[in-house]
Amino acid sequence: MASRIYLDNHATTRTDPRVVDAMLPYFTEQYGNANSPHLFGWEADEAVEAARIQVAELVGVEPKEVIFTSGATESDNLALRGVFDEAGGQGHVVTSRIEHPAVGQVVEDLRRRGASVTLVDVDASGVVDADQVIRSLRDDTVICSIMWANNEIGTIQPVAPIASACRERGIPFHSDASQAVGRVPINARQAQVDLLSFSGHKIYGPKGIGVLTASRRRPRIRLQPMFHGGSQQFGVRPGTLAVPLIVGMGLACTLVRAEQKAEAHRVAELRDRLWVHFRDEPNVVQNGDFARRLPGTLNVSFLGVEAQTVLLELPGVAISSGSACAADSHEPSPVLRAIGLSSEHAHAALRFGLGRFNTADEVDEAAIRVLEVVRRLRATSPIHGAARASSQAEGTK
Ligand SMILES: Cc1ncc(COP(=O)(O)O)c(C=O)c1O
Repeated sequence: MASRIYLDNHATTRTDPRVVDAMLPYFTEQYGNANSPHLFGWEADEAVEAARIQVAELVGVEPKEVIFTSGATESDNLALRGVFDEAGGQGHVVTSRIEHPAVGQVVEDLRRRGASVTLVDVDASGVVDADQVIRSLRDDTVICSIMWANNEIGTIQPVAPIASACRERGIPFHSDASQAVGRVPINARQAQVDLLSFSGHKIYGPKGIGVLTASRRRPRIRLQPMFHGGSQQFGVRPGTLAVPLIVGMGLACTLVRAEQKAEAHRVAELRDRLWVHFRDEPNVVQNGDFARRLPGTLNVSFLGVEAQTVLLELPGVAISSGSACAADSHEPSPVLRAIGLSSEHAHAALRFGLGRFNTADEVDEAAIRVLEVVRRLRATSPIHGAARASSQAEGTK
């Protein structure tokens, strides 16, 4: 059987073995509750506080500003709901059309609860216009949320100018940085980002742990908790701390901090190597901006070839269909529609995500296997003939 190749590092990453090793003692030996008043508890508490420092150092915040959650989904919910409820459960919310559902669906829920919402468009390369976001801010805007980098096409958003304009107007600014942390340098304090979300499993840490950072000084962001319970984490996110996961998250952040620059360079080379395999194929296009993009992201459409079919033909090569069809509909993803792709173009989109553990040999083999399927499907598909004719007419390659 052909070997398995993992090129889906946007979905999740392999936990780094160094992280697993660091976590293990906290399951079996140092298993205290971080809030317990005895040696076991103190040991666990020390580990949590050390991890808070590691996380804080990676994203440029104070350790006290780090709130551990179950993942970016919870962090996004806590940021948006927490601020909205603190503002009395009313007001105006600004976000973009290409947010992950962990933001987009929360904003839809706030709309149902009475918020007025502005969804800002992106251009054809998948980048929001900072001025347009800033122009949409109003006196009654209670929060603005723009993702740091997109999870489908990898485009990096102009977060700092938007955050700075929000700061001037006293509007809390949130960014979902789940895809950006570990892949591009991030300093929330410098960028004036008040609230920042991310997940452990996207940065070679464990699943089930995430972070929300919330500014505590100039400005102090107040959040209504989503859960009620004990006094852990200032009462904003009560519940027994997941010490082994927190320890893993801390080390994952330290590793990223030490290795991100070199890793980004290496991963971008692998991404470009993959594109070299594809670029001479007829009717192949890259989706999204090529310059403002995460190092490991390649989103391509082999026009006329359904991405879902490629995935079914290649279960051993882990990639993702850019169109992310919902099980019960054939609608392409809102992100691909927001950048103006036709339905056919969007349904052909394949997302490749290169990461820390990928090698050049894997990239070469995956490319050969993908091309073999694409060519076979094209040879047997009547749609491909139509795509070729239309793209030749438009001059697309
Ligand atoms: C941009 C973005 N935000 C939020 C999430 C949700 O993260 P999690 O599933 O870890 O809660 C993801 C995961 O795919 C993501 O890519």
